[in-house]
Amino acid sequence: MGSPKAARSKASQLGGIWRRRVGAPFAALLVAAVLVLVLFTGRFPQGPDASSRFTPVHVDDSTPRTVSSTDQDLETSDSSKQEGEGGDQKIELDESSMEAMEEQKQPREDTPETKPASQGTTPANSDLDGKGGTASTTAPDQEESSEAGSGSAPYTKCTPPPNSTVCDLSNSRFDICELCGDARTIGQSSTVMYVPHTETSDGEEWSIRAQSRKNIPWVKKVTVKSLNTSQPAPKCTSKHAMPAIVFALGGLTANVWHDFSDVLVPLFLTARQFDRDVQLLITNNQPWFSKKYMTILSKLTRYDIIDFDSDDQVRCYPHVIVGLRSHGDLGIYPNLSPQNYTMMDFRLFVREAYGLPAAKVAIPYKADRDDPDKKPRIMLIDRGKTRRFINAPYIVQGLEWFGFEVVKVDPKMDSSLDEFARLVDSCDAIMGAHGAGLTNMVFLRSGGVVVHIVPYGIEFMADGFYGKPARDMGLGHVKYGISPEESTLLEKYGWNHTVIKDPETIRSSGWDKVGEVYMTKQDIVLNMTRFGPVLLKAIDFIM
Ligand SMILES: *[C@@H]1O[C@H](CO)[C@@H](O)[C@H](O)[C@H]1NC(C)=O
Ligand SMILES: *[C@@H]1O[C@H](CO)[C@@H](O)[C@H](O)[C@H]1NC(C)=O
Ligand SMILES: *[C@@H]1O[C@H](CO)[C@@H](O)[C@H](O)[C@H]1NC(C)=O
Ligand SMILES: *[C@@H]1O[C@H](CO)[C@@H](O)[C@H](O)[C@H]1NC(C)=O
Ligand SMILES: *[C@@H]1O[C@H](CO)[C@@H](O)[C@H](O)[C@H]1NC(C)=O
Repeated sequence: MGSPKAARSKASQLGGIWRRRVGAPFAALLVAAVLVLVLFTGRFPQGPDASSRFTPVHVDDSTPRTVSSTDQDLETSDSSKQEGEGGDQKIELDESSMEAMEEQKQPREDTPETKPASQGTTPANSDLDGKGGTASTTAPDQEESSEAGSGSAPYTKCTPPPNSTVCDLSNSRFDICELCGDARTIGQSSTVMYVPHTETSDGEEWSIRAQSRKNIPWVKKVTVKSLNTSQPAPKCTSKHAMPAIVFALGGLTANVWHDFSDVLVPLFLTARQFDRDVQLLITNNQPWFSKKYMTILSKLTRYDIIDFDSDDQVRCYPHVIVGLRSHGDLGIYPNLSPQNYTMMDFRLFVREAYGLPAAKVAIPYKADRDDPDKKPRIMLIDRGKTRRFINAPYIVQGLEWFGFEVVKVDPKMDSSLDEFARLVDSCDAIMGAHGAGLTNMVFLRSGGVVVHIVPYGIEFMADGFYGKPARDMGLGHVKYGISPEESTLLEKYGWNHTVIKDPETIRSSGWDKVGEVYMTKQDIVLNMTRFGPVLLKAIDFIM
C-alpha cells in the first residue's frame, strides 16, 4: 500500500463507488471513505506540494479552460462612490458590504475592464457581451398604455397600508414607499408624487434610497411627496395601466453576490407578485446590469425598463412602489413575504428564466443513471486576485482522484451569463473559496451541493453568506475551514502573530482589519488529505 501504482489501481476500482448506488450505497460509501483516506494519505505522504507550498502555480496550461465564472468578482469603480451625496455620513458596513469594498480596492489587471466612467456609473465590462439583449432605457409610452390593455378594468392590486402611511422607514435594511391610487413619477427631479384621493394628506415628503441597503451613502435618493389638496398635481405626459417599481442600482453591485443579495432577490420579492405586469424604473442606472441580467429582468417585467434619471416624462400609474424589500443576506423569509416566497422559489424562478431543466429533474449525475461511466461533475471556481488556490492543479488532480469530473473556471475568461448558467447546471457540485463566485450556486439543480472552502479567520461569516442561502435553496452545503498551514498568512506572519494565534482579536478590532488581512492578503494551499473527509460528505450528499 502506498506505492503510486497500487494507489492508481485502487483508485480505478473506486470508480465503482459511483455505480454502487443501488443496493447499499452508504455501506459502499463508508468502505470507500476509509479506503480513500488511507490511499490518499499514502499517495501523498508529504501532503500537498510540500516543497513548493507558497509558489504560485500557473494553472492555465495544466487544466483545460472552459468558461469563465463570468463575474465572481467584478468590481465597481470607485468613482461611483465619490459621486454620492453625503460623503461625510457615517456608515456602518456589515461584513458583506465589507467584502465587496475590499474586493473593490483590489487592483485589477487581467479581469474584465472597469474603466472609471465620467458620470460615476459603473461601466459595462467586456464579458457582458453575451446574449440577453439590451435594455431599452428610452421611453416609448403610447404603446405601453395600450399594451397594458384593458384600461377599463379597475386596478385592484393595491392595498394601501391600514394606517395610510405612504412610506415605511422602520426596517433596518430598507425603506419602502407604496403609493396606491394616483402616483406620478418625475424622473428628472427624482421624485414620485402621490395624489391622494382623500383630503387627509398633509403634504408629507420622504427621501429614500430605493435599494435594499438603505445605509449606503452613494446610492442616489428618490423623493416621495404626498400632495395635499392645495398643491397642484403635475400633469401626466404618459398614462399607464400597470403598476411600477422605482429602485436604485449602484451601491455594492458589480460584485455578483451583491447583485443577487442587494438587487435581484429583493426585486424578486417586490416585483414577482405582478407576474410581469409591472414597469421597472431604475435610478442610478447601470446599463451593464440590465444587460447582464436581462434574462432575469425580463422574467419580472414585460415592459421596457426606464432609465429614471433621464426620463423626461411625467408618468402616471395606479400603483407605484419605491424601494426594494429585503429580508436578509441572500435571503427570503417566507413568513415576511405575503406570497410565501422562499429562496427555493427564487432559485427555481432563475432556472426557469434561463430555460434550465425543471425542478423535478435530478442532478446530472443522478439523472443519467444508465451511463455506467458517468462521474459526478464538480465545478472548481478559482478566484482572480485574493483567496486564490495556489495549488489548483493539485486540487484538480485530487478531485479527479476522488472520482469527480472537474470543470475548472477562473475569472479571466469570457462567457455570457446564459452560457455560464448552463455550465453550472451541468454540474452536481460547485466548489470555491469563500467569495462572490459561489453565488453561482443559484444555477445548480435541486440536490446539488456547494463545497465552501473557508479561508483562515473568516469562519464566522461563512454560514450567513453562503451556508444558509444554499440550504434555503434546497442545496447541500459542505464547509471546510482551512488550517493555518493551508493559508499563505502563516508564512507572512508566523505562528506567534495575532493574525494566526488569535483571529478573534483581529475581528474585534473591526471589519477593516479583517478585510485587509483575512479577505485580501490570503491565498490557499489546500491539503487534500485533510480536506478528504469533508469532500466525502459532499459525495455522500450527491449519492
Ligand atoms: C495534511 O493533512 C494531514 C491530515 O490532517 C496531515 O497529517 C498533514 O501533515 C498535512 N500536510 C501538510 C503539508 O500540512
Ligand atoms: C403605521 O403602520 C406601520 C407599519 O404597519 C407602523 O410601523 C406605524 O407605527 C403605523 N403608524 C401609525 C400612526 O399607526
Ligand atoms: C399643503 O402643503 C403646503 C406645503 O407643503 C403647506 O404649506 C400647506 O400648509 C399644506 N396645506 C394643508 C391644507 O395641509
Ligand atoms: C401562505 O401560507 C399560509 C400558511 O401556510 C397560507 O394560509 C396562505 O394562503 C399562503 N399564501 C399564499 C399566497 O400562498
Ligand atoms: C513563539 O512564542 C514562543 C512562546 O511564546 C517562543 O518560545 C517562540 O520562540 C516564539 N517563536 C517565534 C518564532 O518567535
